[in-house]
Amino acid sequence: MKDGEMPGTIDKMRVLVIGGAGYIGSHVTRALLDRGDSVTVYDNLSTGCRQNLFKDVSFIKDDILNYSGLTRVMKKGFDALVHLAAFKAAGESMQKPEKYSVNNISGTINILNAACETGIKNFVFSSSAAVYGEPEYLPIDEKHPTKPENYYGYTKLTIEGFLNWYDKLKNIRFAALRYFNAAGYDPEGRIKGLEKNSANLLPVIMDVAIGKRKELLVFGDDYETKDGTGVRDYVHVTDLARAHLSAMDLLAKKGESFIVNLGSDTGVSVNEMLTAARKITGKPVPSRVVDRRPGDPAKLCATSKKALALLKWKPEYSDVQTMVRTAWNVYKAHSK
Ligand code: WQD
Repeated sequence: MKDGEMPGTIDKMRVLVIGGAGYIGSHVTRALLDRGDSVTVYDNLSTGCRQNLFKDVSFIKDDILNYSGLTRVMKKGFDALVHLAAFKAAGESMQKPEKYSVNNISGTINILNAACETGIKNFVFSSSAAVYGEPEYLPIDEKHPTKPENYYGYTKLTIEGFLNWYDKLKNIRFAALRYFNAAGYDPEGRIKGLEKNSANLLPVIMDVAIGKRKELLVFGDDYETKDGTGVRDYVHVTDLARAHLSAMDLLAKKGESFIVNLGSDTGVSVNEMLTAARKITGKPVPSRVVDRRPGDPAKLCATSKKALALLKWKPEYSDVQTMVRTAWNVYKAHSK
């Protein structure tokens, strides 16, 4: 809130986007700019890319492990910060937990402490459906038990725990947004940076379509699902980005912390994504069924009733065709 501003009004905000050069971070930044907010991006470009930086943001290339770098930028004064700077490869987190401890956990503690030191009170946190682990019932709501099956999901759940304490002890109000599977690209094609070595389904399919990878390995087709392949709740990254703005506004208006799932309430299988991609790209996209990937549940789907009630959030772009089409719109430029 700016000095002298009436409490509860939503003025254009000064926002610090930590991880704003990344895949989701750049879409959040784009949505903020489209609304007229002023944005500072803090990013070490380890996984994000310069191509995703817009001319009208101020960019600081620095690391969340550099505490003085964080306090220096936060002293400029912000109405809210959005933290999306994390490693997110579930499989890798089981091989290199130390890397995830340092970056995801220590990095976030730095951000929280710097926010305390500089008086930033509104904190939007990129959390994950990975906090739930194996579903005990579907669709998953926010009351579902949180028993992460991988270290990545554990780091996200642990950070939610810190946020609860910093709310109680330091009045930092947070919105923890539990993303399901983000996919697609800006429908207007303004974001073109490809994720570096993503292991997620749609980026891998796109890599095959442009000839960067030979084939898609389908991790099992013997699941108890509609066609035997894994089912997930894909949500368009622009829909995700818009939820961040609504979450930020609600924090500024009400000053109460909350946790919410962000999914599209629809389950899409690997085969359905593959079929849509072959049709839209016109490419064969060769695939081969291999063994299941350890830790993969058959099906993961959210109910986003709470996001609708709290944030008035309804996905608009999260149909398979739009997610594949908008992704292809970016990837095809990189065809071999
Ligand atoms: C989706 C489906 C795979 C790749 C991720 C991570 C994390 C999280 C999003 C934010 C599954 C199948 C995949 C491939 C395949 N991000 N698949 N071949 O596993 O749901 O989890 O969700 O928090 O990035 O937790 O996403 O895209 O890896 O897999 O068959 O080469 O596609 O088995 O059924 P996942 P995913």
